[in-house]
Amino acid sequence: MENKSYPAHDANKVRWNASANNWALAADSRGIWKECHKDPSLVFSEQLLPHFKELKDKKVCVLGSGDNEAVFAFAGMGAKVTSVDISQKQLDVAAERAKILNLEIDFIQQDVAKLNKLEDESFDLVYTGGHVAVWVSDLNAYYSESSRILKKGGHFIVDEYHPFRRVWEGSKEQLIVGYNYFNRGPFKFNYNDDVLYHKEGSLESFEFHWTLSDIINTMIQSNCSIQEVHEYGDGYEDWEMAPMKGLPEFLLVISRKNA
Ligand SMILES: C[S@@+](CC[C@H](N)C(=O)[O-])C[C@H]1O[C@@H](n2cnc3c(N)ncnc32)[C@H](O)[C@@H]1O
Repeated sequence: MENKSYPAHDANKVRWNASANNWALAADSRGIWKECHKDPSLVFSEQLLPHFKELKDKKVCVLGSGDNEAVFAFAGMGAKVTSVDISQKQLDVAAERAKILNLEIDFIQQDVAKLNKLEDESFDLVYTGGHVAVWVSDLNAYYSESSRILKKGGHFIVDEYHPFRRVWEGSKEQLIVGYNYFNRGPFKFNYNDDVLYHKEGSLESFEFHWTLSDIINTMIQSNCSIQEVHEYGDGYEDWEMAPMKGLPEFLLVISRKNA
């Protein structure tokens, strides 16, 4: 596992490092990062929150932590949080913010497909999502690593952008299927350093369109038992380039690692 190379991830890392400033500005415009350690409902949906009732002193790992809003929310609930991201620049921004919020967090730069800095069976909860799987070429390695670092009986929770959202062409007026749902990619783009409102640029980006059954089956194959599946949200935001109102926004899968 450790020696396997993922050239698409290396390219994505360069882009996420280059985009860290813009991503931090986008988080500033929402303002959630400053408040979510006091109010986790700013980050977690009503479907998720009931699963986070007893996190005091529990070990939680957030994979692909990005803006770290989930990390700060878990820390505010009293959990001992490890924040993992492939982009050191993203982690640097988050570490600065954690200092401002007076939160103690372990920040670790790692590829979610190769978590060799993290020990077997060391976490009570592994949480990942909000647009992470789309950057990962090896879903099997990603989820089996997630399961490996989880204690037996611990929760593995995936809360991802819904796969149905990834098939549309960029057209604000009507929904036009631009990508076959069953084509997982890789889709290669050359973008600038704005991840939300991207334009053509010199940064290579590789995306993967995992289907709903890919996510669920890979979790099952990673020695986890599915407890709940939710599809929720039905609006759409300005950065989304297709009028998807009425389609599910998120896919939430709650699972437990088998004893
Ligand atoms: C869209 S963010 C998702 C997290 C958070 N919900 C957010 O919106 O900021 C995507 C994050 O995943 C990270 N990422 C992408 N590929 C990764 C990989 N292979 N391993 C670890 N992190 C990765 C990126 O660096 C980025 O910080």
